[in-house]
Amino acid sequence: MKRLAILAAAALALAACGEKAPERSPLATEGVTDAMIAAGNGEEWLTYGGDTDEKRFSPLDQVTTENVGELQLAWYADLDTARGQEATPLMHDGTLFVTTAWSMVKAYDAATGKLKWEYDPEVPRETLVRACCDAVNRGVALYGNNAYVATLDGRLVALDQDTGSVVWEKMTVPDQDNYTITGAPRIARGLVLIGSGGAEYKARGYIAAFDAGTGDEVWRWHTVPGDPAAGFENDAMEKAAKTWGGEWWKMGGGGTVWDSITYDPKTGLVYFGTGNAEPWNPAANDRGAEDSLYTGSIVALDAETGEYRWHFQETPEDRWDYDSNAQITLADVELDGKARRVVLHAPKNGFFYVLDAATGEFLSGDAYAQMNWADGLDDKGRPNIQQAARYEQTGQPFIGMPGAIGAHSWQPMSFSPKTGLVYIPTNNVLQGYLADKEWEESDIGFQVGLDTASTSMPADAAVRQQMADLHTGALVAWDPVAQKEAWRVSQPGPWNGGTLATAGGLVFQGNAGGEFVAFDAKSGRQLWSFPAQTGVIAAPMSFSVGGEQYIAVLAGWGGVWDLVGGVLADKGGPVRNISRLLVFKIGGSAKLPALPALNDMVFDPPKFTGTEEQVKQGAGLYARYCSVCHGDAAVGGGLVPDLRRSGVLPSDEALRAIVIDGQLKHNGMVSFASAIKPEGAEAIRHYLIKRANEDKALEGK
Ligand code: HEC
Repeated sequence: MKRLAILAAAALALAACGEKAPERSPLATEGVTDAMIAAGNGEEWLTYGGDTDEKRFSPLDQVTTENVGELQLAWYADLDTARGQEATPLMHDGTLFVTTAWSMVKAYDAATGKLKWEYDPEVPRETLVRACCDAVNRGVALYGNNAYVATLDGRLVALDQDTGSVVWEKMTVPDQDNYTITGAPRIARGLVLIGSGGAEYKARGYIAAFDAGTGDEVWRWHTVPGDPAAGFENDAMEKAAKTWGGEWWKMGGGGTVWDSITYDPKTGLVYFGTGNAEPWNPAANDRGAEDSLYTGSIVALDAETGEYRWHFQETPEDRWDYDSNAQITLADVELDGKARRVVLHAPKNGFFYVLDAATGEFLSGDAYAQMNWADGLDDKGRPNIQQAARYEQTGQPFIGMPGAIGAHSWQPMSFSPKTGLVYIPTNNVLQGYLADKEWEESDIGFQVGLDTASTSMPADAAVRQQMADLHTGALVAWDPVAQKEAWRVSQPGPWNGGTLATAGGLVFQGNAGGEFVAFDAKSGRQLWSFPAQTGVIAAPMSFSVGGEQYIAVLAGWGGVWDLVGGVLADKGGPVRNISRLLVFKIGGSAKLPALPALNDMVFDPPKFTGTEEQVKQGAGLYARYCSVCHGDAAVGGGLVPDLRRSGVLPSDEALRAIVIDGQLKHNGMVSFASAIKPEGAEAIRHYLIKRANEDKALEGK
């Protein structure tokens, strides 16, 4: 209340002077302050990445390599959403703040797990149709007495930390067709920073800063140039426009800022990663095989003004969806005998970069994962792109490694100043890229310009096995100074959880297989594990209350890999999602309830009565409009119905009511009438029946 009074007084003072320029709210002097965030003392976890360097290193050392065997569940909380859980909880003043799927926020007593309040922004479920990667949210930001959440449908909401009531709410995205938000806001001296996702839905990427007290927009910086006829916003846009062909702006351009944002109070810079260029296939709209700045880049701006300082493009000519959105970590290291402040980055493209934090100068880089799209980096850090990877030029399919989920995506990595190692959750994943020469954009769904039907998984047991063998994961400990691997722990499948490093000499990570594990940070030796009953993709964090160290992690399988991965998505572990917050301490005594039995889902498809022509048409439409949620080759990952097993398959009317008339739109299954005609829906139905019969025949093989 006190704060509101100060704000009201400031507003009155402004009005009295008759000034136009909105005055910024005063910096927080109570609650969570800039000094507290910068200090990152370890008792509290005040910002998404743990501290302003985004190291995800806890200085707490009560739980050690010696006693981690006694780590037990202290408490747990069942969540009321069963979609992917990607958030890192924050802890301040004895309260644990966590976001769940659908951008809901919950506040718990950090020691006991008692729910203090919850907030549901009531995101319209139809928003899913412009969200590539599940209804996920990665967390809140704390400043003053507020907690800030950005919602899937594009709002930034300030909540009172004590009560969860709304202090202010702003729509931050330009429209309701192209943009969604999944990322956690960050704080920079009284500003709340947030970007958006939506590159495949024709978004134009940006990052924006809002006054923490009022929600007023202070600045916005676009990552890709807009229509030149409208004039460029700044020199950076004018320069970037020279690196695009055709009428790129008509499809937005992409380059969205959907995850990493790092504010460094020491330099006053804000660093962020930008996503892929849109559409993936650069020939699809004639944007051309050009650099398409500032996509696939790290960009640094002056946090106070939003002015451009430097950029470093990691993936020029992006046509593989190699976002640079993975977490940006700052570190002080010694390079060639000199102390340097550097940016550490392990983006989707598979190279580990060390850049000078002040200038963006490329200092070193090397492959931390298997790849075939590029053969090394030149002395400026530019990749030597393999000609076979330019699939729109060769006209051939390119089986790319890594694929679009990346060698490392949003799952946070951690850096331990004690070991000097970075702990990266990595993926070995392939992706078929084939340019669709006949492709035309449509006004609904995922727009990439690829022939995704031709590269989807065949119903052949041997091919499936071969592909499954190639899709793996690994926790990689990387030495950024030597640019080499220190150790690795292999995992059966990709899409494992983010990591936490601690001063107790530990690295914590959950995995797709439903375990939460502690490793020795020096050697990678497994020291402890806990059966989480569900896949874990989020990153753990640590805090201390009442003199006891706690480790918390959100469990709940999901995200993009579960949605699109098809038959490969359940390879690493359980398909089921049991969304829960798990909190551990030495000698905890809570117990999870017994694992509920899996419903045996049987195949009971009707007999196939369609024509091959219908199957071909249905496969094409399915791959283009449905696979992004219902899975490659109609193999559902568990979050949305597996259409091979759907009860509506026997009825053309029932399927049409859903796909054309939008009967289930309030549950996130919108009408596709703008792109699919009734004959198309019928073709999809026959394709699904064929797929169901094929996979039924494979059962037991
Ligand atoms: C943006 C994500 C998304 C896309 C894209 C999508 N769906 Fe869905 N679909 C859903 C969700 C979520 C549900 C579950 C709705 C519910 O719980 O009622 C669903 C349910 C369905 C169902 C009902 C299944 C059952 O047994 O209850 C059918 C049929 C269906 N979808 C077909 C399609 C087809 C065909 C396409 C492509 C034209 C498609 N969907 C594209 C998200 C999607």
